[in-house]
Amino acid sequence: MAFPGFWVVFEGADGVGKTTQVELLAARLRSAAGGSREVLTTREPGGTPLGVELRQAIMHGDHVAPRAEALLYAADRAHHIATLVRPALEAGAVVLQDRYLDSSVVYQGGARGLGDEVERISRWATEGLLPDVTVVLDMEPDASRMSRDLDRVERETIAKAAQMRAAFLERAALDPGRYAVVDAARSVEAVHASVVEAVERAMGRRDGLPLEPWGTP
Ligand code: TYD
Repeated sequence: MAFPGFWVVFEGADGVGKTTQVELLAARLRSAAGGSREVLTTREPGGTPLGVELRQAIMHGDHVAPRAEALLYAADRAHHIATLVRPALEAGAVVLQDRYLDSSVVYQGGARGLGDEVERISRWATEGLLPDVTVVLDMEPDASRMSRDLDRVERETIAKAAQMRAAFLERAALDPGRYAVVDAARSVEAVHASVVEAVERAMGRRDGLPLEPWGTP
């Protein structure tokens, strides 16, 4: 990406600790850069005022038809990228983002069965903007519960979670230069250390910088 900024996206299933890791990385970047480099944390859906309304409609409203849901996520994304993320990257900020188009591909395309068009819609919505690195926080879904007596719905939920995990890993494997898979079934500190390593590697790769670029914006 030709922007002076640097863009990190966090992906993975619900409950793997994305939000915590975004916050930890932001704190580290802010202190290491001595406040000289802007660090923006944001999320989808809901990273803008319009996005907050869309998030409310998608997640807390009445039933939403699957295709309408996919388009609402795409609308949130289009507005988020155009009005917040792209301008921040152009201004040289580091953007740390909770979820992006892989979530649509895995949840709407895969789990909801809407297929490949979901990715095309997201790419159109964002004019093809892709992060410098996507960190996939990976964890076996609810492993501790597998052994217990589960009813049908619980088994289906876990099976679906396993499929979604596989889908995130598959996307990461297709483009290893743009993705880093981090084992999220460890302590918050250990996961954070791996995240820092992955982001430093990606920063070094793009800018040809040494691997401790935090201090120099
Ligand atoms: P998230 O904000 O991570 O949830 P929470 O605030 O509960 O941690 O994500 C909200 C939900 O939206 C999550 O279940 C995944 C889903 N989602 C999609 O289905 N498609 C998308 O494109 C995005 C961005 C999220």
